[in-house]
Amino acid sequence: MSFIAAGSRYLVTGATSGIGKAVVEALLENGATVLGIGREADKVAAITESYHQTFEFHSLDLCQLHLIEDAISKYIGTGKFDGFIHCAGRDETTPLPMCNEENISNLFKINVFSGIELLRVFSKKRFSNDGSSIVFISSVMAELGHQGKIGYCATKAAITGVVRAAALELSKRRIRVNAISPAIVVSPMSDMLLAGTSHDEYKEINKMHPTGFGTTMDVVPMILFLLSANSKWITGQNIKIDGGYSIK
Ligand SMILES: NC(=O)c1ccc[n+]([C@@H]2O[C@H](COP(=O)([O-])OP(=O)(O)OC[C@H]3O[C@@H](n4cnc5c(N)ncnc54)[C@H](OP(=O)(O)O)[C@@H]3O)[C@@H](O)[C@H]2O)c1
Repeated sequence: MSFIAAGSRYLVTGATSGIGKAVVEALLENGATVLGIGREADKVAAITESYHQTFEFHSLDLCQLHLIEDAISKYIGTGKFDGFIHCAGRDETTPLPMCNEENISNLFKINVFSGIELLRVFSKKRFSNDGSSIVFISSVMAELGHQGKIGYCATKAAITGVVRAAALELSKRRIRVNAISPAIVVSPMSDMLLAGTSHDEYKEINKMHPTGFGTTMDVVPMILFLLSANSKWITGQNIKIDGGYSIK
């Protein structure tokens, strides 16, 4: 059963990799029209070819906040959006002595500020339909801590605050805003983080997930559910999808 209404229109950031790319593919398979944003078009060439009628890709560095509204404006000629999924993000391990305003604010720019700018643009009636649904990707690190992750944990916690406040502000148009918080999902991001671990460390981290590491398809169904009308009474929430990581 598809949760997504055929013909609905979504914007997906982080469309070129990992969770975002899997969301794009699932939406297209369910008959939605998608605008994907990322920096490298090559990474979605196959999707662009297979879904040339329902998928468009816009290359944009989302840290250039002032370019976001103009970029999206180009795609509303054929209809407003029914929501967006903000999957673009960066993880970074920076021990406390190396933390400085520049590296922390760079992380905030992509993980948080670009999402707030997307919300600001979508709050305008010419961009979004009433009853739209918005999903942010936070992380279990929003509520937990980890060595060297002050910046990452702070940005992921910030997202849950943004989600609650935006959900209230947009409720008058029945626009819902939620977050999901995964633990480790196999993706280029987690591959890079785990690449530096020894075999024993890798096994130890895997064991911290009672049902093992997740795959993108372990989180995509919840995202589709949150986008759909089946979840129309759920807003302002942060839903953990973590194989039991956070209950130990
Ligand atoms: N994977 C995990 O274990 C995990 C766990 C919890 C939460 N998350 C969160 O889930 C989200 C997606 O993670 P993922 O695993 O799918 O990561 P990923 O495979 O590394 O993908 C990250 C995406 O973000 C885009 N991006 C990064 N910086 C950008 C910028 N400045 N402008 C535009 N796009 C930018 C990348 O696009 P380009 O490559 O085209 O630039 C890419 O599409 C992130 O917010 C991450 O923190 C992931």
